[in-house]
Amino acid sequence: MENKTVYLNGEYLPLSEAKVSVLDRGFLFGDGVYEVIPSYCGHLFHFQDHLQRLENSLAGIRLSNPHTREQWQQILSPLLDRNVDQYIYLQITRGVASKRDHAFPSDIPATVFAMCSNIVPFVGLNEGVKAISMDDTRWKFCNVKAITLLGNILHRQAAVDQGCAEALLVKNGYLIEGAASNVFAVIDSVLCTPPKGNDILPGITRDVILELARKNDIPYSEDKILFSSLQVASEIWVTSSTREIIPVVELDSKMVADGKPGPVWQVMNSIFQAYKQSLIMSEQTFFEFPCEFPVKAMGKAGIDLDLLVIEIVRRHVPDVKNDAVTTRPSKDGNFVAITVIIEASSKKQLDAIYQDLTDHPSILMAL
Ligand SMILES: Cc1ncc(COP(=O)(O)O)c(C=O)c1O
Repeated sequence: MENKTVYLNGEYLPLSEAKVSVLDRGFLFGDGVYEVIPSYCGHLFHFQDHLQRLENSLAGIRLSNPHTREQWQQILSPLLDRNVDQYIYLQITRGVASKRDHAFPSDIPATVFAMCSNIVPFVGLNEGVKAISMDDTRWKFCNVKAITLLGNILHRQAAVDQGCAEALLVKNGYLIEGAASNVFAVIDSVLCTPPKGNDILPGITRDVILELARKNDIPYSEDKILFSSLQVASEIWVTSSTREIIPVVELDSKMVADGKPGPVWQVMNSIFQAYKQSLIMSEQTFFEFPCEFPVKAMGKAGIDLDLLVIEIVRRHVPDVKNDAVTTRPSKDGNFVAITVIIEASSKKQLDAIYQDLTDHPSILMAL
């Protein structure tokens, strides 16, 4: 067992020494909720959104939040490493009662546990994964991120048993979500995902993708999806905090479109990565200016993107030479990535370049 430092009820201690009573209601009943929060280079991704969902989950099981948002920040920060991408696992249970009884005990403190693990890049991201579909057998409050995950576990294991990465759950003929992910499909060129409600966990990744689709004029809809309509889907993705956006290329042993990750996924994945990078950048203060800095932008092939990028960069760094620019086409030749090496003088200058690049309709991502 990796003996990292974890947090348990006010203390930081080695994982091997973190112990809870067998009378803890998490152990006896699965009576608790959890959160999984990615941290990129020590920056907690959409932290306030995760805390809001935690508050909603706690309210959903009638457990009061043991800490304020500021206290959560203080509790979790010492677990983070600025040099790697990680995720926090945070769990709150209804605590340790003196006897086993279904009804809530009165006046006992909640058990609070948090640990941090490295994010291992998901194998299969670029090739896509296989999935199966299954009738959703879980309970009626799937919007609560409850630690009681037996339904999800059995679905995911059924997928793994068939050599698949995920089970897509179906209720009354409608696509719901994955066993541990939200689901998207591209149908008639529209990015579709099921609406929020008790049937799905309101994924933070899902919300970020919808916001990025809105900002980048990618047509999308949050509406019920008939499972049968997946037969004409050109793309299917599953999304979650630790796996991000994974293309599903085979469903129930049938290829999705041509069995390869599709163009909308390529674009959204690039936009998502650039967005993550921009959040990290916006928090970073450890650059020493002036410094050499690679400005990167990506767009569709077929236009003189290099000229456009250099023109935008020159608005802020007039003396950039033409030979500071490199152009790299994507594998399929549909996109092109431009890098311009500049002598950056301040973070403000980099932010302004980034803003101008992302504002331009021909630039799909900038970082
Ligand atoms: C059932 C379920 N739906 C959706 C998600 C995706 O949520 P998020 O994007 O916040 O990780 C998860 C994540 O674990 C999940 O378990």
